[in-house]
Amino acid sequence: MGLMKVNVSAIFLLLFLASRPDVKAESVVFDVTKYGNEEDICKAFKSAWEDACASTSPSTVLIPKGTYLLGPVIISGPCKAAIEIQVKGKLQAPEDMSEFEGFSSWITLNYVDQFTLTGGGTFDGQGKLASNQRTCGKDKHCKLPPVSLKFNFITNGIVHDITSTDSKYFHAHLLGCKNLTFQHFTITAHDESLNTDGIHIGRSKDIKIIDSDIGTGDDCISLGHGSRQITIEGVTCAPGHGISIGSLGKSQNEESVSGVFVKNCTISNTQNGVRIKSWPALFGGLASDIHFEDIIMKNVSNPIVIDQVYCPWNECNKKSPSKVSIRNVSFKNIRGTSRTPVAVQLSCSKDIPCKEVEVANIDLRYTGSEGPAKFQCSNVQPKFHGKINPSKC
Ligand SMILES: *[C@@H]1O[C@H](CO)[C@@H](O)[C@H](O)[C@H]1NC(C)=O
Ligand SMILES: *[C@@H]1O[C@H](CO)[C@@H](O)[C@H](O)[C@H]1NC(C)=O
Ligand SMILES: *[C@@H]1O[C@H](CO)[C@@H](O)[C@H](O)[C@H]1NC(C)=O
Ligand SMILES: *[C@@H]1O[C@H](CO)[C@@H](O)[C@H](O)[C@H]1NC(C)=O
Repeated sequence: MGLMKVNVSAIFLLLFLASRPDVKAESVVFDVTKYGNEEDICKAFKSAWEDACASTSPSTVLIPKGTYLLGPVIISGPCKAAIEIQVKGKLQAPEDMSEFEGFSSWITLNYVDQFTLTGGGTFDGQGKLASNQRTCGKDKHCKLPPVSLKFNFITNGIVHDITSTDSKYFHAHLLGCKNLTFQHFTITAHDESLNTDGIHIGRSKDIKIIDSDIGTGDDCISLGHGSRQITIEGVTCAPGHGISIGSLGKSQNEESVSGVFVKNCTISNTQNGVRIKSWPALFGGLASDIHFEDIIMKNVSNPIVIDQVYCPWNECNKKSPSKVSIRNVSFKNIRGTSRTPVAVQLSCSKDIPCKEVEVANIDLRYTGSEGPAKFQCSNVQPKFHGKINPSKC
């Protein structure tokens, strides 16, 4: 049986490694295709993961080249040693939402330390169908479609050379992660697909997203409360809604967002470029030490935005100021084109004006015919440096 073969070869590899202590430990490989041949590889994947996770030397769960159906699956650590999932093939989620009864995501990873996800393969969320595309809006009883990749409490990990396509909801969602890097992580979804955020981060620390291409129907990257020390560098975002912090202040006791560095990114044909948003009225919070630098905007509707009257579905009282405090924010070396006349809009809270906002070397041209580009401010007095176009508020 396949299972036997894997274990026997694993033992040989271990013996081999034990006899050569000078050699850097190679991974013990657990190939999912050796764990049965059902059409849905869910069970095989779980069994391979369990064996790999129990390995006391570094291990790899291998999904070889090919296309596989994978039903919703939850895999968890802690594991006995470093573990890698190597996806060479393409994994497809069930198309039908009814298959996700009892699951809020397609693939959930819990409590893994020293984790790697790589292999050049693709996670296809099969969210193209119109029936998957809906939004709950105000409806609190509506069941949200599943997130494609859910990372819960993953530490010291890297996800690289992986593609996520056509998720039904967010592509990747991080919660409680620490020291996790995404590199050469490609996301593609139709620009009209609802809520297909590229990467959403919440309550996580030391997260890097570098050299990655993200195209989706919602925020390319969104940072929820409790995101700290986040680096976003060398990312292209097109299409989508840009790189967004918030929305903050929607619930009680939100943790602050701090230490965000967005650098050397290109944002094209999106609704927003870089944005910080908070709900009016409601609850308090803090967003601080946030820096956007060396960013190219191409045909972006709203390139630079602070929006403290964010209120979709008209769910809130826009007249009552936001209780979220925003401070130590900089926008430097940002150039390109705006698709609407208001190229820069900084709308801060009347109760808690934004503090320590720095704006330097901005060159944003409006490409339409409704007059010159504008720089609008309320409840903020930015410090300006260098050339500022449109002329400063
Ligand atoms: C972060 O995780 C990577 C990948 O596992 C590891 O090489 C690195 O040492 C970790 N950094 C810290 C500060 O722990
Ligand atoms: C900026 O990002 C691009 C990818 O979008 C990369 O090719 C380039 O090397 C980066 N430049 C610097 C100076 O890091
Ligand atoms: C500008 O972006 C809009 C979508 O926001 C798109 O429809 C349009 O084709 C883009 N124009 C160019 C010249 O790329
Ligand atoms: C602003 O943020 C930067 C980056 O985190 C930090 O080094 C600096 O000390 C902060 N400035 C203030 C006045 O807090």
